[in-house]
Amino acid sequence: SAERDLAGRHVVISAGGTREPLDPVRYLGNRSSGKQGYALARTAVARGARVTLIEANTGLPDPAGADVVRVGTAVQLREAVLKAAGDADAVVMAAAVADFRPESYAAGKIKKKDGEEPAPLTLVRNPDILAEISADRARPGQLVVGFAAETDDVLANGRLKLRRKGCDLLVVNEVGERKTFGSEENEAVVLGADGSETPVPYGPKEALADTVWDLVGERFGQTGAA
Ligand code: PMT
Repeated sequence: SAERDLAGRHVVISAGGTREPLDPVRYLGNRSSGKQGYALARTAVARGARVTLIEANTGLPDPAGADVVRVGTAVQLREAVLKAAGDADAVVMAAAVADFRPESYAAGKIKKKDGEEPAPLTLVRNPDILAEISADRARPGQLVVGFAAETDDVLANGRLKLRRKGCDLLVVNEVGERKTFGSEENEAVVLGADGSETPVPYGPKEALADTVWDLVGERFGQTGAA
């Protein structure tokens, strides 16, 4: 990859997994470690970009040279992404965002009462941040990249998701033992809205991150985004 080819660009990256609180001690969450999003941040800094990293619940140390914003829930992540995207050349959503959150939050710890059935858990829909920023670009030529972690019919589901979300690129990674959630390595196919398919072989998450920036860089060239 070309050195400092992202100089003068502002990129926004989300990383980690949102947590949707039930009460002061419990939440609904997922297995994202944030490693893929942090690899995107490190490689973007190395390539000269100004980087805003919005992280949810990773516990990872700040990558040198990136502005880090901490959030907890999907609703907070949406606020932070919309704010940072205002002057961004690219937004990359590597975070695993909860599609639903508990309808209500109990201010005190939910107690189990002897002999009582557990209360049903009612969920409500969270905003779809990727679909929203794709449909309503904060500036002309802004590139939007999504991720999709799939378990079945990986590519077919990826293609559907690309169209449904309306992003320019979708990084499809299969959930597996030594890739995707939590591991140091990953493997993916990057689908383009232009019909392109770029396979990325099994390797460190930095290698996948660099391929994403290569593809984003090519598209900057085509759209002439500022
Ligand atoms: O963090 P690691 O342990 O390194 O793992 C990396 C990863 C597996 C989390 C990452 O590579 C990945 O695939 N992230 C997306 C996970 C996922 O399952 O996404 P999804 O299919 O639920 O969502 C698709 C896309 O829409 C994602 O870009 C997501 O950020 C976005 N989304 C989803 C739901 C929602 N309400 N709003 C969103 O913006």
